[in-house]
Amino acid sequence: MTIRSASSLSAPFAKQQALPASPFDVRSAPPAGPIIAPMPSVSTDHSDAAEPLLRLDRISHAYGASTTFSELGFSLKKGQIGCLLGPSGCGKTTALRCIAGFEPISGGEIHLNGHKVSSAAFSLPAQKRRIGMVFQDYALFPHLNVQDNIAFGLHGVDRTQRAKRVGELLETIGLQALAKAYPHELSGGQQQRVALARALAPQPDLLLLDEPFSNLDVELRERLGLEVRDILRQQNTTAVLVTHDQHEAFAIADEIGVLHQGVIQQWDSPYKLYHEPANLFVAGFIGEGVLLPGTAVGPATLDIELGRVPAQLPPLCAAGCPLDVLVRPDDIIHDDASPMQARVLAKAFRGADFLYTLQLASGARVLSLIPSHHDHAVGEKIGIRLEIDHVIAFEHPDC
Ligand SMILES: Nc1ncnc2c1ncn2[C@@H]1O[C@H](COP(=O)(O)OP(=O)(O)OP(=O)(O)O)[C@@H](O)[C@H]1O
Ligand SMILES: [Mg+2]
Repeated sequence: MTIRSASSLSAPFAKQQALPASPFDVRSAPPAGPIIAPMPSVSTDHSDAAEPLLRLDRISHAYGASTTFSELGFSLKKGQIGCLLGPSGCGKTTALRCIAGFEPISGGEIHLNGHKVSSAAFSLPAQKRRIGMVFQDYALFPHLNVQDNIAFGLHGVDRTQRAKRVGELLETIGLQALAKAYPHELSGGQQQRVALARALAPQPDLLLLDEPFSNLDVELRERLGLEVRDILRQQNTTAVLVTHDQHEAFAIADEIGVLHQGVIQQWDSPYKLYHEPANLFVAGFIGEGVLLPGTAVGPATLDIELGRVPAQLPPLCAAGCPLDVLVRPDDIIHDDASPMQARVLAKAFRGADFLYTLQLASGARVLSLIPSHHDHAVGEKIGIRLEIDHVIAFEHPDC
């Protein structure tokens, strides 16, 4: 049981190791697509093992008088995949553009590979940051075939080494057979794999992915997300993904920051965001669930309509205090033998499961994920019981 106040936030700063040298020395940045160039004398001999690869130290940004975010901070160690997850317009793309060096920041600092690349007074040009980018619209060059698109960022690399790197990446993305195909001959998923390979070709220190799969259908999005995660792992690439889609975030990221109103509400693993949301916004934004009214009973117990559950209440939350208790669809089990009955208000077929909307005796509604061979009609009453591991309760304003 975890009790959290709506204002509890966390944004841990991670540690990292020194980077290996990149064998690819790309001298000029292309006009579009990957933005890679060697960071002068900084990226290969850095040896402070405690320094994260990327660190945003309380950065602020505004478009004119309108603040996009202030004091935004997180860090990633080498090989880690971080994600900024948030609703449309919350500033995700702007944050990526600040990291890439396309947007100036008005406060704080961005450190890449142990070196300051942005502050209010200084900005290292984008082409010197050794950052690769993948956008949602693929942005492949239509007049270049797959292998030439991938090779695009490898100017200055000798022919043999370039062919070797392109060959490796074609194998990694599983498109060897399409090396000579042109973008218009590829599916959306294939194009996005090529865009990823092109961005990875010069071995950037950091890869930025802006909603890379939002043009793809849901199933492909999740599958490609897992593939991309494997590829990034294999290449030991550090990456920042931004998306509004939690499934995309969950499939790829090690750590996710939920961004809302210019503030990272919680920076945590996908598991913890789901099971231990820090505040009501995160609880509502991540996953499905409802808040049921509850009451503190003792130092380690609370009551909700579905029963009494163990709880670790904070000292100030005395017996009788009203609480909002988060109940997820997987916390409610269908059990014919249970005396507790709920009426089926609606159901959505999800293949293996139905997501049932159920009404309790009080009129409160809960969601329940039930194997789809339990096909109950709307209006029917079914037996349910609570099976909940981590009870999340928020102090009610009246507490
Ligand atoms: N060039 C610009 N000039 C002024 N305001 C801008 C500019 N670009 C973005 N904004 C505003 O800044 C805010 C953040 O925009 P941003 O594109 O970073 O959001 P986002 O989280 O990426 O949204 P989405 O999920 O829709 O892509 C929005 O309110 C947007 O209208
Ligand atoms: Mg955006």
